[in-house]
Amino acid sequence: MILAITNSKGGVGKTTTAINLATSLASRGRHTLLVDLDPQAHATRCVLEGEPERNISDFIMERPSQAFRAIFESTVPNLDVVPSGPNLTETAELLSTRIRREERLSRALEGVSDEYQHVILDCPPVLGILAYNALIAADQLIIPVQPGVGAVIGIDALLDATRELRDDVDVAYRILITMFDIRTTRTNAMVEELLEENRKRLLKTIISKSETLNQANLASQPIQMYAPSSRGRYEYDALCDEIFRLRPR
Ligand SMILES: Nc1ncnc2c1ncn2[C@@H]1O[C@H](COP(=O)(O)OP(=O)(O)O)[C@@H](O)[C@H]1O
Ligand SMILES: [Mg+2]
Repeated sequence: MILAITNSKGGVGKTTTAINLATSLASRGRHTLLVDLDPQAHATRCVLEGEPERNISDFIMERPSQAFRAIFESTVPNLDVVPSGPNLTETAELLSTRIRREERLSRALEGVSDEYQHVILDCPPVLGILAYNALIAADQLIIPVQPGVGAVIGIDALLDATRELRDDVDVAYRILITMFDIRTTRTNAMVEELLEENRKRLLKTIISKSETLNQANLASQPIQMYAPSSRGRYEYDALCDEIFRLRPR
């Protein structure tokens, strides 16, 4: 199953979720591929040492039969990665001149995704051509949302774009609450607001606000390695188990 971790907002926990969910899946013995579509390349730095000679730009710009050459073994057993790279913004511009420009990622993945039980796409924070590629390639969207004012703004635009791109009214998506702080009352009111419209779509697992998760990011490590007995690790493992039980729709 191809999961796009996506939201048109930045700073909501997309990359943190992509990296830690991918690591959880891999540590549960699932052969997993992490595709880094974020120009900031943070997910890549967490699981790959050094500067790879190929990256996501090659993955989507070359012929699909050559896509496998941009896949690397990560430092996590069972986890492979298509790294992001410094030329990704340029690639997005180049892409806009190509035929079927929104389908390039999906075609590249077609040739390789059979090898993997899970493919995780870490999406960029803008709803542009790279995100469109992910929205078309994904079987399911995971939308991280940070509780607070305006948290749900943008979700409708994201879903509308997906429906239009895929000519599909029934997009499979789930909402993941991240950086949840039990002490904030405003936060909890917002969660209730979310529950109203998206009750069926909310994942049961909630990711708490955690300084340890933040520190793991600063150390460029998955939480499973940085703090294996932390709450953040436990919560991302729980998310992983919930993902196992997801049906395609
Ligand atoms: N559960 C969490 N608790 C505390 N800080 C978090 C948590 N998840 C993410 N962060 C921090 O929030 C910031 C944004 O997270 P990130 O995953 O990069 O978001 P995005 O990819 O959506 O831009 C980072 O500094 C990250 O370390
Ligand atoms: Mg990110």
